[in-house]
Amino acid sequence: MTNLDLYAKAEHLLGIEDATEALYDLYRSELDEKDVKTLLDVGCGRGGFMTRMKSDGVSTKGIDLSTLMVEECIKAGLDAECIDITEVEGTFDAIVSIFDVLNFMDKTELIRFLNAVADKLEDDGVFIADINTLYGFSDVAEGTMSNDTGNEFLSVDASFENDELHTKFTLFEKQEEDVYKKYQDTIVQHFHKIKVFQNITSLKLVEKQTFSLYDTEDKTLLIFKKK
Ligand SMILES: C[S@@+](CC[C@H](N)C(=O)[O-])C[C@H]1O[C@@H](n2cnc3c(N)ncnc32)[C@H](O)[C@@H]1O
Repeated sequence: MTNLDLYAKAEHLLGIEDATEALYDLYRSELDEKDVKTLLDVGCGRGGFMTRMKSDGVSTKGIDLSTLMVEECIKAGLDAECIDITEVEGTFDAIVSIFDVLNFMDKTELIRFLNAVADKLEDDGVFIADINTLYGFSDVAEGTMSNDTGNEFLSVDASFENDELHTKFTLFEKQEEDVYKKYQDTIVQHFHKIKVFQNITSLKLVEKQTFSLYDTEDKTLLIFKKK
C-alpha cells in the first residue's frame, strides 16, 4: 500500500468534512463567475467536488495518484483515473487541485506539474488551487491527534522543519476480536513560496487570496490563467 492509499484509508477519521465542504463552496463560487463546461479535478480524492460540479451539468474528469481514491470515485459513477496529468486526453475550461494537493509535490515536481496544467487548459481556461501558508504549516498542521472508533484507531503525528511537514499516520484496523492490522507510513508536504508560482512561464498568477480555513490566514487560494 502506498502512503497516499494509507491517507485514503484514514481520511474519514481526520474530521475534515466541514473544512472540505467550505473549500468546495469557495471553489464553486470562483467557478460560478466563469463559463465552465469541462472540468479536470487533479487530486480528486473521493470525488466530492466532481459530484457537485457534475450535478450542475459540468462534464468532469478526475485523476488521483491513490488507487483507493479512484476506486471510490468509480463506485460513485464518476469518471476518474489513476494517471499522471500528462496522460490525460483533451483540454479543459477549468482545472482544480483542492485541499493541499500542490503541497504534496516538491518544488521540481510542482514546476513540472504546473507546466502540464497549462498544456491541458483551454486558451481562456482557469486553474485554481490552494496551498498552506507558512503559518498553516507551522501553527495549524503541526502536532498530534488520534481517533478511536472501536473498529479503527488512528494516530497522526506531524512535525514541520526546513519547509517540510512530515506527517506519520498509524492506523490499526480491527480484523476480529483482539486482532488488529497495523498500517504505518509518512506523508511529506512541502511549503511553497508565492514567488515560485509567479515565475512559472506557462501560467500567469492572476489572483491570490489568503483566507482562514481552520485558523487565521492558514491557506492561500491561487487562480491562474494560461499565458
Ligand atoms: C487532502 S486530499 C484532497 C482530496 C480532494 N481534492 C478533496 O478535496 O477531498 C489530497 C489528494 O491529492 C492526491 N495527490 C497527492 N499528490 C498528487 C499528485 N501529484 N497528483 C494527483 N493527486 C495527488 C492524494 O492522493 C489525495 O487524494
